Parts: sequence; C-alpha cells; structure tokens
Amino acid sequence: MSSSTGTSTVITNIAMLVTNDPSLGDDSPLGLVQDAALVIDGDRVVWTGESSKAPATDNRFEAGGRAVLPGFVDSHSHLVFAGDRTQEFNARMSGRSYTAGGIRTTVAATRAASDEALEANLTRYLAEALRQGTTTFETKSGYGLTVADEARALRIAAAHTDEVTYLGAHIVSPDYADDPAGYVALVTGEMLDACAPYARWIDVFCEKGAFDGDQARAILTAGKARGLHPRIHANQLSYGPGVQLAVELDAASADHCTHLTDADVDALASGDTVATLLPGAEFSTRAQWPDARRLLDAGVTVALSTDCNPGSSFTSSVPFCIALAVRDMGMTPDEAVWSATAGGARALRREDVGRLTPGAYADLTLLDAPSHVHLAYRPGVPLVTGVWRRGARQV
Ligand code: NIG
Ligand code: FE
Repeated sequence: MSSSTGTSTVITNIAMLVTNDPSLGDDSPLGLVQDAALVIDGDRVVWTGESSKAPATDNRFEAGGRAVLPGFVDSHSHLVFAGDRTQEFNARMSGRSYTAGGIRTTVAATRAASDEALEANLTRYLAEALRQGTTTFETKSGYGLTVADEARALRIAAAHTDEVTYLGAHIVSPDYADDPAGYVALVTGEMLDACAPYARWIDVFCEKGAFDGDQARAILTAGKARGLHPRIHANQLSYGPGVQLAVELDAASADHCTHLTDADVDALASGDTVATLLPGAEFSTRAQWPDARRLLDAGVTVALSTDCNPGSSFTSSVPFCIALAVRDMGMTPDEAVWSATAGGARALRREDVGRLTPGAYADLTLLDAPSHVHLAYRPGVPLVTGVWRRGARQV
C-alpha cells in the first residue's frame, strides 16, 4: 500500500497538530497534539506524537512553532467549465435572485470551448485550491449536457482526480426544453453509458427548475445499477424531497441542505449520508445560511466544501468557507476544521485522506499561525504557507 521511497522526513516543532484521530491526541474529534512531530515515509504518514519522542529520520523539516493539519478535502466542486458569470453576479448584488437558469450561460460557453481551454481552466483552479490547502477534490460534469460534452468533461476531470462525478442531470438540456422526459431517458441511457467509465459518483440537482424527486430517483437508481455511487444537490433553494431521497438511496452526501424540515434532519441523523454545507453559495447568492448547529446538535455528520463554480460560488478557498461557517452557521472553529478535512473525507467515503494518522496519505497543510483556530480568527488572511501532497511538498 505505501510507496516508500526509503527516505523519511520528520516535521518537527509543530505547535498544534490536528490528526482527526482522538486516540492519537487529546480526546476531542480533532485529536490535537501540542508540541508535536509527524513522520512521512514515501507518500504516507507513519508516525505522529510529541516532538520529544519522534523517531530518527533521514530528513528534518522545522515547522517553527506553527500549526499542521490534514489537507482540505473539498468534496464538492464544478471545475470543468468555460467563461464566467460576472454580469449575473453583479445583477444579483443589485437585487436579482439566483436561479438554476444561469447554468445555461455556462453550458453554452463550455460547449464552445476546446479541450485545451477546459483543461487549462481546470488546472488553473486546481492550482489555486492547492495554494489554499486543498489536497483532495471532487469535481463534476454538468456544463455539457450532451453525450459527447458530458463524457469529455469527465475524461478531462479524471486526469486530475479519482473523485469524478457525473452530473448530466444538472438542468434539463436546452436541447430538450420541451421534452424533459426525453432528457431523463438520455441521462439514464446513452449518456450514462458514455460517462460511467470516467466517474465514481452520480449526482442530480433536485430542485424546482431542475429535476423533481421522481426524476432524481430514476437518475440515481440508474447510476447505481451502473456501479456509480449517488450524491445529490438537495434542498438548496427551497424545501423538497432531495435530502430524504439521499438517505433512502444511501447517497454518500446530500449537498447544500439549506432548507430542511425536522423530518429531513431526522433522516440525515438516522443514516450514513453526510450533510455537505457550501457556504460560498449562500455568500454569493445572498441566501440564508444553512443551519450547521441544528444538524450537529441532531448528530448529523457535516462536511464543508466550496462548491466552486462560476455561477453560485466562485471561490476555491476552503479557509474562506471555514470562516463563514464559524461566523454565520453556528459552527465552532474546531467543528469547521473537522468538517473541511475529516468531514469531506466521509462525504467521499474515504479513510486515507482527511486525517494525519499512520497509514493515511501524507497530505498536509502548514499554517503561518500557531493554531488551526486562526483559519476562522483571521479571515481572509492567506495563512497556508506549506502544502504536502502524497508526501511531496507542493507549496
Ligand atoms: O451547486 N445548484 C446547482 N449547481 C451549482 C450551481 C451551478 C451554477 O450556477 O452554474 C451549485 O450551486
Ligand atoms: Fe454544486
């Protein structure tokens, strides 16, 4: 499993280490270790603990009394697209409301773009995210909406991540405006056949103006039959059936969760579906915040992600989302950091990322701050000063 290079590196003099394993640190979910060290061998973490007990290694990196935490796991983004929607954003900030209709603008620009242009755009936003501490990311199709354009988006994404999501059901394609049932047949038939080889997940935007509960069930069920695992855009703009459908189908994640009934919260608390909250979307659409406190108090597992896309949330910054979640969604700094690391990993059903424990990937972020709390305490400040991915320093 480990691709050991035979060289090991100790990162020492870490003022605060977030392991996300209570058995390795204090009893909190973050498993905090003060005055800590961490040893990397090849692409994996092999040891964490107090600096004074660190084993001998080939190399040594001095953390200088700063904080180290797992690289962020951004479990929800839409990064295969062309163009931007500055005008739409401007209009919104002058009082217009967000609707799913704006997606059509990006569909037109994406269809018209070359493979090279889409690849360049994706690479640019991935580099931007990496500089801000993201070491694992999921990304989706959804701006092609033809068989060829959806498959192309997924092929381009799959060259950069294992966490690829087929979102042919983002909106009904403009080509099928008068025949939504025909579009669902395409999404569950020929388009699914073309896309399944590149994807791990299937997603649907279950919302007024996109797909209703019955259509969403049909789409996710067809994806499951092809070996794709469901996740769902649910209850973003209004109350609806998405969250309960997610739990019913054992989706890994129900994303947005802004408008929830008590029955929705109970359903999430009873299953393994993570509630992925995307505060960049509420920020950029001036919508009400999802109530993270209500979910956490009910025992729901919460993840935090960017939803980076040109329409509703054009940020690649997980630290920004952490700050928003703490300021406006009732999360403590510890909860927000957990949700952006271990929570994201849960939303992707991954055990090898989002934690700094022996055997996990050595994906980690060094902050220019003595504690992870500074991510919320110092909003907007570029605190990420080092990023290692698979044991190799990237930033
Ligand atoms: O997650 N809600 C649907 N999809 C995106 C928005 C896409 C867009 O506006 O381009 C979201 O917010
Ligand atoms: Fe989204």
